[in-house]
Amino acid sequence: MGLKLFRCCLMVMVALCIFSTSAFGGEVEVLHWWTSGGEAKSVAVLKELLEKEGHIWKDFAVAGGGGDAAMTVLKSRAVAGNPPTAAQVKGPQIQLWGDEGLLANLDDVARAEKWDELLPKVVADIMKYEGSYVAVPVNVHRINWMWANPEVFRKAGAQLPTTWEQFEVAAKKIKKAGFIPVAWGGQPWQEATVFEIIVAAVGGPDFYRRALVDADAKALSSPTMVKVLEIMKMIKQYTDKGAPGRDWNLATAMVIQGKAAMQFMGDWAKGEFTAAGKSPGADYIAMPAPGTSNQFLFNVDSFIMFKQKDPGAKEAQKAMARLILQPEFQKVFNVNKGSIPVRLGMPRAPFDDPALRAMSEFIASATGGGLVPSMAHEMAVFPAIRGAILDVVTNFYNSDMSAKKAAAELAREVEAAM
Ligand code: GAL
Repeated sequence: MGLKLFRCCLMVMVALCIFSTSAFGGEVEVLHWWTSGGEAKSVAVLKELLEKEGHIWKDFAVAGGGGDAAMTVLKSRAVAGNPPTAAQVKGPQIQLWGDEGLLANLDDVARAEKWDELLPKVVADIMKYEGSYVAVPVNVHRINWMWANPEVFRKAGAQLPTTWEQFEVAAKKIKKAGFIPVAWGGQPWQEATVFEIIVAAVGGPDFYRRALVDADAKALSSPTMVKVLEIMKMIKQYTDKGAPGRDWNLATAMVIQGKAAMQFMGDWAKGEFTAAGKSPGADYIAMPAPGTSNQFLFNVDSFIMFKQKDPGAKEAQKAMARLILQPEFQKVFNVNKGSIPVRLGMPRAPFDDPALRAMSEFIASATGGGLVPSMAHEMAVFPAIRGAILDVVTNFYNSDMSAKKAAAELAREVEAAM
């Protein structure tokens, strides 16, 4: 009798196990590039939520800010017929992956969770391929920020700049006082980040769109572009010798530690200040980069999902997509990451002042015409065009090429890449 009962229990347990792994628990291998202190803390939230639902998170982190290294790895995995379950992919590239026919359709999750109502249309459109959701957005980052150490400014007797002329005045004083004015990360994507900020500052949003969204040759070789490039070279005098190759988070650390006065970088830099226990307003200042106060260069992180055969993996994918847009994840992730929720109507209370400012200015810039997609962060043009721009900008910055020659080259290389 006892033995029979034991057997019976065992059978029920085995059945439950099979049922739960095939219908509920599954593994997602997630490719991403979030490896800095603030980034790792943020992505851990998603892993935790998924594991709470009985799924397995297989981490596939490819270090390298901006994701260029991660994209190379992703392409080789896909070519080998072995893509991960989910991958961090952004902007127009989502369409290219859609063309390959490799992406899972997320419409049933999107319908059940009402994504069309929860997402700004500008974001929802990027996530769809031929009208169906194939990607899920995580956040909205703003690129055009300046991160400053107020103590360094005070010691140098310098004012926080709101124009590039004021920047030069402040940078001179900071250098004279023995500090590094600008914490510079000498990698192409970081140089392109500062470049596009200056494009917005000098040319305004219409010029930005013509040059970096439409990739218009006239705009790329115009006198406005020459001015942009000259400002970039002017900034170079206020960087240090250790800049080449420096990771963005190490540049942020220089501001945190009071070695450097400022960094121009998207608000993932805030994630580093937060992880270091620093408070905005008191320990550091976050303000729009000079000349860009009415503009919002946006960068939306998102995950694409690759088609799966295994029912467990399919379930895990759907759970991941659902959890990403739920309020709990949107709150904790974005507080850690420095970004703002992509889900509309989230409570403002948990967010700090820079995030609240970003939330208001996202909406204001959308109506005022100042909302533009980031070129450096894959939101504006296809990878071949972005690659051409990054090459020219980096070559120019790291050589004695004239701004005029670089502007002409920009137009030429971009046309060749089209
Ligand atoms: C961006 C990405 C951000 C941030 C940054 C540095 O492209 O959108 O989430 O992580 O790279 O790695």
